[in-house]
Amino acid sequence: MKKNNADQYDKLSKAFHWITAITVVIAFVLGPGDFGRLLHNGIDPGTRNDIVWHETLGLTVFTLTSLRLVWVAVRPDAPRFQMATWMRLLSRLMHFVLWCLLFALPLSALLALGTEAHPLTLLGGFRINDMSFIANSYFSGLADWGDVHKFLGDLIIWLAGIHALAAIYHHIKLKDGILTSMLP
Ligand code: HEM
Ligand code: HEM
Repeated sequence: MKKNNADQYDKLSKAFHWITAITVVIAFVLGPGDFGRLLHNGIDPGTRNDIVWHETLGLTVFTLTSLRLVWVAVRPDAPRFQMATWMRLLSRLMHFVLWCLLFALPLSALLALGTEAHPLTLLGGFRINDMSFIANSYFSGLADWGDVHKFLGDLIIWLAGIHALAAIYHHIKLKDGILTSMLP
């Protein structure tokens, strides 16, 4: 792995971080809370802008996170800052959980759509009506994936909020350059 002596994340890591953060927040805001009722009333999800945008942005997060994982494997080292061991471990744990959620959110959504026999509807009129290959998979019966997805959606916003507050605390109180290391 290449060495990075700078106190900054490389440009691509910053771009991945901020585009993903903004996309997650917009997807969350557009979360289709009345999804079940709409479908119960016979409304096609493909005709609803919020649902189409939500699913498209959510799958964008999945694509970005997959590419970002490849980049993390080959990029220059992330900047390192002096801090107490417990703080370093906690921040690593938080990053790890956020990474897991960035993958788990789209996957749980696809499992929810598949097990509940709903179509996947994306921008540009793209849709997959038959998701039965998911309904027939081993994972489909393990949980109510719609509930899991909603829970994970709330969780990522709470954790990202705590993560952002921690970054601001480092900037204002500890003045250690961690926040600016990720700023564009
Ligand atoms: C970063 C990615 C995502 C976030 C943060 C997110 C967040 C959420 C949240 C918070 C809800 C619940 C809304 C409410 O109850 O008010 C929700 C519902 C839903 N999301 Fe996502 N989502 C993401 C990705 C996706 C993807 C990729 C898809 C589809 C491929 C999707 C499809 C759905 C569906 C169908 C529902 C309704 C579930 C139901 O009521 O059973 N989401 N999402
Ligand atoms: C949904 C929103 C967010 C998600 C999912 C998220 C996720 C992540 C992840 C996975 C990392 C590790 C990055 C890497 O190794 O390349 C990271 C780093 C970082 N994030 Fe976020 N983030 C979000 C929002 C924010 C916000 C709003 C701020 C600032 C106010 C912020 C500040 C930082 C900083 C300063 C780092 C570097 C921390 C360090 O090296 O210890 N993030 N974030």
